[in-house]
Amino acid sequence: MQLNRGLTLLASIRLILACGDDPAAGSDVGIAAHRARYSKRSDPATNLTTSSPQVTALDNVRYFNGHGLSAPTTVLISGSSIGLIGTNLGVTPDTHINGTGHVLLPGFFESHAHPGSLEEMKNLTAAGVTTTIGASCQNLTLCAQLRNLPGLTSFITAGLPAVAPGSSNLATPGGVPSVNFINSTAQIPSFMSNNIAAGSELFKLRSQNGGFSQDMQTAIVAEGHKYGRVVMTHATESDSWVRALGSGTDLIHHTITDANISDDQVQQLLGMGVVNVPTLRVHYQGWQAGYYPDANWTMIQSNVRKLYDAGADLLVGTDVHTLTPGALTELWFPFGSSLHEEMELLTEVGLSNADVLRMATKEPARIFGYTDRGQVKTGLRADLLLVEGDPIADIKIINNVRNVWVAGEEYMG
Ligand SMILES: *[C@@H]1O[C@H](CO)[C@@H](O)[C@H](O)[C@H]1NC(C)=O
Ligand SMILES: *[C@@H]1O[C@H](CO)[C@@H](O)[C@H](O)[C@H]1NC(C)=O
Ligand SMILES: *[C@@H]1O[C@H](CO)[C@@H](O)[C@H](O)[C@H]1NC(C)=O
Ligand SMILES: *[C@@H]1O[C@H](CO)[C@@H](O)[C@H](O)[C@H]1NC(C)=O
Ligand SMILES: *[C@@H]1O[C@H](CO)[C@@H](O)[C@H](O)[C@H]1NC(C)=O
Ligand SMILES: *[C@@H]1O[C@H](CO)[C@@H](O)[C@H](O)[C@H]1NC(C)=O
Ligand SMILES: *[C@@H]1O[C@H](CO)[C@@H](O)[C@H](O)[C@H]1NC(C)=O
Repeated sequence: MQLNRGLTLLASIRLILACGDDPAAGSDVGIAAHRARYSKRSDPATNLTTSSPQVTALDNVRYFNGHGLSAPTTVLISGSSIGLIGTNLGVTPDTHINGTGHVLLPGFFESHAHPGSLEEMKNLTAAGVTTTIGASCQNLTLCAQLRNLPGLTSFITAGLPAVAPGSSNLATPGGVPSVNFINSTAQIPSFMSNNIAAGSELFKLRSQNGGFSQDMQTAIVAEGHKYGRVVMTHATESDSWVRALGSGTDLIHHTITDANISDDQVQQLLGMGVVNVPTLRVHYQGWQAGYYPDANWTMIQSNVRKLYDAGADLLVGTDVHTLTPGALTELWFPFGSSLHEEMELLTEVGLSNADVLRMATKEPARIFGYTDRGQVKTGLRADLLLVEGDPIADIKIINNVRNVWVAGEEYMG
C-alpha cells in the first residue's frame, strides 16, 4: 500500500516535471507516467468483465436516445459496460449518482483532430470526448504512444496523409515533409503498407488544386479500401471536391471555401453516400485570419446548410491541432472545448440540436465502424458524459460537463 502510494506520488512528480522542460521529450515521460499511474486501474483495451464488477447507478436521469430524451430512469454502469436501464432493476449498486435535472449522453466523437500530447488527450476527455479520430498523423511514434491510454479518449488515427508535390495551400510554412509525397501510382502500395505497419486504423489523402490527378486519387482510395480502411479526403476547394467525389472516398473533410457548393456536387455526394465533416471551427478561424479571399462566412455556412437540407451524413469535428514548431498558430484553438464550439456553430447554420448530438455520437460510431459505443444502450462500452441541464433545449448545456466515463472509468483529471 505504502509502496503503491509512493509510486503514484513519484509518477505525479514526473508528470509535473514533464510539463516544464523540453516539450517533445516531456510528452514521452508524461505518457509513460500516465500508464504507470493507471496500470492498476482498468484498461479499455482489455476485457474487464469480472464476476463482480463495480456498479454505479445514475438515478432519475434522462438520456439521449439518438433522437430525443428518454423519460427519467436509472442507468447502471457495470464495470466497463453500460448495464441495465430501467426502474426496479433488482440490483444493489455500489454507488449512486443523483441524475435529477441532468442528461446522460454517449461520449462524443471528435471526428477530426490532431492531438500530440497527454495534456491534449486529457482536455479532450474532460470535455466528454471519449473517441478521437486522428485525421492524419505526422509522427507515427507519438501517435502510437497516444493509442490505448487507459482512462482517456480512444485515439483512432490515419497515418501519414498522402500529398502530391505542388499541391496548393500546403498547410505548414516549411511545406509538407517529402515523406508524405506520392509521385506516381507505383509508390502507392509501399506508402499504404508503411502506414498499415505503423498501426493506422484509417487512411487520409489530400485533394488540393495543383495536386493529385483524378486517376491518382482514385488509385489511392482503392488501395486504402484493399486494406479495408475507411478513407478520408481533405478538400477545401470546389475543384478538389470534384476529384474527391470522383474518387470513391468514404469521407470528405472540410467545406468548400472558394465557391458556392453546386447542386451537382450535393447530388453526387448523396448518390455516392459520401460523409462530410465540415470542420466549421477551423474555417471560422481561417476566415477571421483572412484565409478565404473568395468567401465570406455566410457562404461557408450556406455550403453546410445545403448539404444538411439535402439529407447528407455530416459529422462533428474541428481540425484542432497541437502547436508544433512550424504549425499555423493563427489556426490554433484549445482541445475539447472546441468540439462544443463546433456543435454550436453547426446549430447556428440551422442544424437541430438533436441532429448535432447524433452526429457526435451514434453516427460516427456507425461510419467509422466502432459500434461498441456511441449510444446509451445495455452492453455497450460505458463511454458516457453527464451534463447538467437539457442540451436538446439549449446546445450550450454541453459545456456543463459533470462526469465523464471512459469504458466505465470516471475521468478524474
Ligand atoms: C471476456 O469476458 C467474457 C465474460 O466473462 C468471457 O466470456 C470471455 O471469454 C472473455 N474474453 C477474454 C478474451 O478474456
Ligand atoms: C436529487 O436531486 C434533486 C435536485 O437537486 C433533489 O430534489 C432530490 O431530493 C435529490 N434526490 C435524492 C435521492 O437525493
Ligand atoms: C516523434 O515523437 C517521439 C515521441 O514523442 C519523439 O521522441 C520524437 O522526437 C518525435 N519526432 C519528431 C521528428 O518530432
Ligand atoms: C516525390 O517528389 C518530391 C518532390 O519532387 C521528393 O522530395 C520526394 O522525395 C519524392 N518522393 C518519393 C517517394 O519519390
Ligand atoms: C454564392 O452565391 C451567392 C448567391 O446565393 C452570390 O451572391 C455569390 O456571389 C456567390 N459566390 C461565389 C463565390 O460564387
Ligand atoms: C456573403 O455571401 C453570401 C452568400 O454567398 C452573399 O449572399 C453575400 O452577398 C455575401 N456578403 C458579402 C458582404 O460579401
Ligand atoms: C487544456 O485545458 C486547460 C484548462 O482549461 C487550458 O488552460 C489549456 O490551454 C488546454 N490545453 C490545450 C493544449 O488545449
